[in-house]
Amino acid sequence: MEQFKGQSRLPKFAVPKRYDIRLKPDLISCKFAGSVNIDLDIVADTRFVVLNAADLSIRSGSVSFKSKDSSKVFQPSKIEIFEEDDLLVLEFSETLPIGLGVLAIEFEGILNDKMKGFYRSTYEHNGEKKNMAVTQFEPADARRCFPCWDEPACKAMFKITLDVPVELVALSNMPVIEEKVDGLLKTVSYQESPIMSTYLVAIVVGLFDYVEDHTSDGVKVRVYCQVGKANEGKFALHVAVKTLKLYEEYFAVPYPLPKLDMIAIPDFAAGAMENYGLVTYREVALLYDDQHSAAANKQRVAIVVAHELAHQWFGNLVTMEWWTHLWLNEGFATWVSYLATDNLFPEWKIWTQFLDESTEGLRLDGLEESHPIEVEVNHAREIDEIFDSISYRKGAAVIRMLQSYLGAECFQRSLASYIKRHAYSNAKTEDLWAALEEGSGEPVNKLMNSWTKQKGYPVVSVKVKDQNLEFEQSQFLSSGSHGNGQWIVPITVCFGSYDVLKNFLLETKSETLDIKEFLGSSVAKDKLSGSGSGCICDRNNGISTWIKLNVDQAGFYRVKYDEVLAARLRYAIENKYLSATDRFGILDDSFALCMARQQSLASLLTLMGAYREELEYTVLSHLITISYKIARIAADAVPELLDFIKQFFISLFQNSVERLGWQPKAGESHLDAMLRGEVLTALAVFGHDLTLVEAIRRFHAFLEDRNTPLLPPDIRKAAYVAVMQKVSVSNRWGYDSLLRVYRESDLSQEKTRILSSLATCPDPNIILELHNFLLTSEVRSQDAYLGLAVSMEGRETAWTWLKDNWEHISNTWGSGPLITRFVSAVVSPFASFEKAKEVEEFFASRSKPSIARTLKQSIERVCINAKWVESVRGEKDLAEAVKELAHRKC
Ligand code: BES
Ligand code: ZN
Repeated sequence: MEQFKGQSRLPKFAVPKRYDIRLKPDLISCKFAGSVNIDLDIVADTRFVVLNAADLSIRSGSVSFKSKDSSKVFQPSKIEIFEEDDLLVLEFSETLPIGLGVLAIEFEGILNDKMKGFYRSTYEHNGEKKNMAVTQFEPADARRCFPCWDEPACKAMFKITLDVPVELVALSNMPVIEEKVDGLLKTVSYQESPIMSTYLVAIVVGLFDYVEDHTSDGVKVRVYCQVGKANEGKFALHVAVKTLKLYEEYFAVPYPLPKLDMIAIPDFAAGAMENYGLVTYREVALLYDDQHSAAANKQRVAIVVAHELAHQWFGNLVTMEWWTHLWLNEGFATWVSYLATDNLFPEWKIWTQFLDESTEGLRLDGLEESHPIEVEVNHAREIDEIFDSISYRKGAAVIRMLQSYLGAECFQRSLASYIKRHAYSNAKTEDLWAALEEGSGEPVNKLMNSWTKQKGYPVVSVKVKDQNLEFEQSQFLSSGSHGNGQWIVPITVCFGSYDVLKNFLLETKSETLDIKEFLGSSVAKDKLSGSGSGCICDRNNGISTWIKLNVDQAGFYRVKYDEVLAARLRYAIENKYLSATDRFGILDDSFALCMARQQSLASLLTLMGAYREELEYTVLSHLITISYKIARIAADAVPELLDFIKQFFISLFQNSVERLGWQPKAGESHLDAMLRGEVLTALAVFGHDLTLVEAIRRFHAFLEDRNTPLLPPDIRKAAYVAVMQKVSVSNRWGYDSLLRVYRESDLSQEKTRILSSLATCPDPNIILELHNFLLTSEVRSQDAYLGLAVSMEGRETAWTWLKDNWEHISNTWGSGPLITRFVSAVVSPFASFEKAKEVEEFFASRSKPSIARTLKQSIERVCINAKWVESVRGEKDLAEAVKELAHRKC
């Protein structure tokens, strides 16, 4: 038996075809009893049946074979569990016959409180605390609910039966076919599922209300939520019905199941889970309350629903062959969720907002401790950590890059044929490339291998020389070092106008492009149209117009311009010649280059000054994010300049505040509603007096009346953050008042808004109080990490607290995906080599596979910050530049 230990994949001498599962959860004692009959195809001689099981007590097991005239039952001579590898091995004294048999196992388990496997979540009903039973199986926790071949490629059919209390709603992937009541219990049987992977099986048992609709082809769609909150499910229902239709057309395959249920679960580790036909969500990701949810919450719901529904095809119908190809699922669902959302809500300009996703991908992939999109996975415990920005965001961004290279129409056609070809089966990355290659005639496999099989991405440096553009690629690393990766980079360049465009593949390290003809045409066009193209009349450098690479930021790379080109672009930004996506890209690249010490902070700040008249939500929002990061570095590097820097940032956002004011305007856009909240929050964080005073006035009104028009949901966070800026141990009114609001609210979005606002308090004692509060039963364990993104002043306290409570934290969150948040949130804000060393030493004896990568990445970030601080300290011209910028008015 020992031979099965330590192997990452199950041996394949028995193949499961169909599971008949019966479960009886007891919501009072939090235990469950179960039995499973698995139709097996024994394909090779064996005395062993090896499958997965974890935290289950096995009561009995046997394999039986039936033929026309006889039947034989094999009892195992030994049943053993290898806990380390989640294996259940049944050993038989004789070889099992090749052919079809039935493996029958009886077992018992515990409804755990770890938000994985078969677990309990709690809720209140009529003032009484109750349990519900929920499953979360991805990536590898179906084995905690029933013994199974728990690998994505081991697809089978599932027939589920539940024994539950009569008064409860019991849901599974498929519709109910029969309910039999027997006293206080009912036996609910569900239709057999089509062939699917174990990680997509789902069960929910509890008290719920629902709203219902159906698609034009009769698929019944329901949103289940807490009793009394059905209205909050209406928005998600609307999105779901529309999105199903859209995907049916996009993938050219109908939704594969007869029904789709979506349900809000009060305790949920991820954001949402795409279980086939029964999608589970955190409340914040599904429910929308007209009165108390913000525009940002609404957008999130749409994106999450669109993402999970995309998986019903991409993931559920066609499933990755192994976790190495997880990115196929997640990268694709992320990308296509933007496509769907854009279709439903074009006014949200969601593709511009997509840049927030790609920049997070670039940020993580700029670390030496990043990993390739296709990553080797050996052990189940390593899987959780790859649900990261590489799989999701870089994955989505390289898909966008490819789509933009191949063209939308060809891309969609090829995808539809990929889905058809691999439906009810599994696929690898190469299979997707093959379909796209066939559909386009382009060498997709070769092009994409450079993006998915190696980590990192290039920065393309571009210089003008004698009417030529010189391009050179090298690996971008935030540490400032140069890696030796090389990519096939789809380069796009435009010259002074979006109509003068050149595309080519940069396949070598460097290349030169003769640009005479492009310059000519852009100047000519300029004269013809009479409109400005940013052409400035300084012919000395051989060019007279702006040149922008990576047009529309469609490529997953950065661009470093020489000084002449950078100055032209600044001018083009000031004069509004560039699109929002390009303005975003120039800013983002410049920030990254500054952090990597390839550009001075003074020049980054000067570039930021070109955005004083910026109106676009995504660009401004990114400007705000960057200004927070700069303020943090400046606090360590040049504290004497911090006030000037803050003053400069305040002046940057002044225009927007004046335009938007505090009070929402009738009929204003969704983006303005989101922007108002973010800009006011920024002014509060940077200590703008008028903002702080007004925020506190409005907060008072809110405390008096939770429905006051003075504090609508979109500006609540700004007011909370402002209130927290003034809180200290001797002046705790704001903190106590916010805690009261937290306790009184039963809307998750409100609670999460408060937790993240509390963390911005500059008083370390309050931060300690908050952190201890996070560990109490008043904060659901799914939400605790939200209070960890602390102010600069609080980071040392947070670190000491993390060390003091590590054992408890590790026990509570250590076996799920949330533990990494604790590490990265607390460690990454530091900016000194001493601290990096201290963190390393603390974790030397405490690291484990589930946090190993995140820990290394967080420590790398601390070192990057430390180097950045040193270089900013050494910038001679910084003080002068900062003062100049701070005093310049719009
Ligand atoms: N398949 C994931 C859920 C998941 C994440 C399971 C991690 C196991 C571990 C789901 O499709 C997903 O990606 N959810 C996202 C939301 C999405 C909109 C990016 C999430 O949970 O954040
Ligand atoms: Zn997903």
